[in-house]
Amino acid sequence: MSRLAIHDTGEGPALLLLHAFPLDASQWDQQVAALSDRYRCLRPDFWGCGSSPAPPPGATLDDYAAAVLQELDERGIADVAVCGLSMGGYVVFALWRSARQRIRAVVLADTHAAADTADVRDGRLTMIEAVRRHGVEAIVEDMVERALSQSGRDEIHVADPVRGRIRRCTVDGIVAAQEAMASRPDSSPLLASIDVPALLLVGADDTGTSPDDVRAMASAMRHARSEVIECAGHLTNLEQPAQFSQLLGDFLDALRRW
Ligand code: MLT
Repeated sequence: MSRLAIHDTGEGPALLLLHAFPLDASQWDQQVAALSDRYRCLRPDFWGCGSSPAPPPGATLDDYAAAVLQELDERGIADVAVCGLSMGGYVVFALWRSARQRIRAVVLADTHAAADTADVRDGRLTMIEAVRRHGVEAIVEDMVERALSQSGRDEIHVADPVRGRIRRCTVDGIVAAQEAMASRPDSSPLLASIDVPALLLVGADDTGTSPDDVRAMASAMRHARSEVIECAGHLTNLEQPAQFSQLLGDFLDALRRW
């Protein structure tokens, strides 16, 4: 299995942070600043993103999850609280399928359990063709438009780092992630089995995942609650970093008091 670059900061119970597509681990910098005084924040770059090597051919999301587990094994980390945003959330479902005994708590942000509709899959094929023909730059503005609310797009210190992260991804990394996401299974039947404490977050203006979908997911899980983050689109942790970090930190701190 091809290795993943993993950024490892702080001390305390392990918190695994899984980034969105097509970004990298630096998406979590503001949460690391807020939480690494009391949590060990582990952030992989998915293949072809950030500092990670090229993806292995035909990687599925189960392979992404296996690569993450391999990095935890290398560090002797037995269990984690895991937080995944969007594609990161899809990898959380894959981790739950293969290694639920290692997961102490789940945070799902701006993600959903359902598999792709035919339209979404077609959109992925279109993007794959565009990056193959024209390079990564061809998708940058479209992705920024989809991922951020209008106010996020207007904030240059939010939007520009998103552009930078996308530009650091390779064509192969983008193609592999899109193919893996397109072939992922429906994780809805898994929701009832998630019996660890769970927090579900979503931006009020997320055009990819609706607050209603997230509330329905939370009610299908055993110990989950959901929060809607106002004035944020899909990338809630970047648009409202202080609120996101507070919700995440409060959730994790409460687990330590049990
Ligand atoms: C993401 O932000 O990771 C993407 O929106 C996930 C997807 O394309 O389904």
